[in-house]
Amino acid sequence: MPDFHKLQVAALEQLTPNAVALSFEVPKELDDKFKFTAGQYITLATEIDGEAVRRSYSISSSPSSGKLTVGIKKIANGTFSKYANEELSVGDVMEILPPEGRFVFEPNSRAQTIAAFAAGSGITPIMSIARTVLESNKSSTFVLVYGNQTPQEAMYYDALKALQQEYNDRFFIQWVFSRSSEPEALFGRIERSTVNLILKNKFKEYDFDAFYLCGPETMIEVVSQTLKENGVPNEQILFELFTTSDTTDDLAKDLEGKTSVTVLLDDEEHQLVMDKKEIVLDAVLKHDIDAPYSCQGGVCSSCIARITDGQAEMVKNQILTDSEVAEGLILTCQAHPLTPSLKVDYDDV
Ligand code: FES
Repeated sequence: MPDFHKLQVAALEQLTPNAVALSFEVPKELDDKFKFTAGQYITLATEIDGEAVRRSYSISSSPSSGKLTVGIKKIANGTFSKYANEELSVGDVMEILPPEGRFVFEPNSRAQTIAAFAAGSGITPIMSIARTVLESNKSSTFVLVYGNQTPQEAMYYDALKALQQEYNDRFFIQWVFSRSSEPEALFGRIERSTVNLILKNKFKEYDFDAFYLCGPETMIEVVSQTLKENGVPNEQILFELFTTSDTTDDLAKDLEGKTSVTVLLDDEEHQLVMDKKEIVLDAVLKHDIDAPYSCQGGVCSSCIARITDGQAEMVKNQILTDSEVAEGLILTCQAHPLTPSLKVDYDDV
């Protein structure tokens, strides 16, 4: 059973005309469960118009703040984000899964120089990471490149300005606006030239320990590609996708026949038969098996399981490394069975 807990909305803050920050009250007895590392996310679940809806949102507060806050931007046709922005009130209760995620910054005693590239709501985990980097060592430095259409649309604009004042000698922001010309900001989107400007010009004396990228896939691709061209090793580039480009499922059309699936979840075995054209997670949920999931888009990593028998293939995978896939891990929200039988273990991941 996913480990959902009922938490009350303790505060709601309007960040922009289209975004709110939601803070939750964590009761004392759940303190340990809801401890998090900077960069992690939580999954919120509720019922909207009779339908169960789950979404994951990055935590924007820092672990040291004692708060559990997420930033939610309203997106066109977004059921959950619209609900959070327009209908939720202080005192409402939501079902929430404890923090998860691998896009994290773990502070250590060493001073670090970190850069982040964020676009739109991709700023949310970066807020937590930036605060943690700056608080954790008096000599640590943080460079943020943050892209938005306009300053009014930029989530945490005031909080970032305040942070800049507090750490004015070691927190630097390069604003990028695509629909507004502002003094000292770049005009346009975050692109190859933006990355080169940071690395080869504005901060060329800096030796960065790590780069955190958070935003749409196109931004992540261009930034990581340019970082690599500049000699940054893969392991120093961490990223979190916020929206993914629509992927077409080319695998399904070539698959024929059925698969008998054994699902191991919370030490219980379940059996089902599914069409190979179906996605494993969809079939599992259709059989009322309470498997973990959130985004259903290959972004959040909640639905990871291990294939212990048979074979499955993913439509898309930007989360698991090659070695994890080789040892049998799979995103079940992206997986088609390939063999007549398949064993999926959600417990051993
Ligand atoms: S449910 Fe988010 S990656 Fe599968």
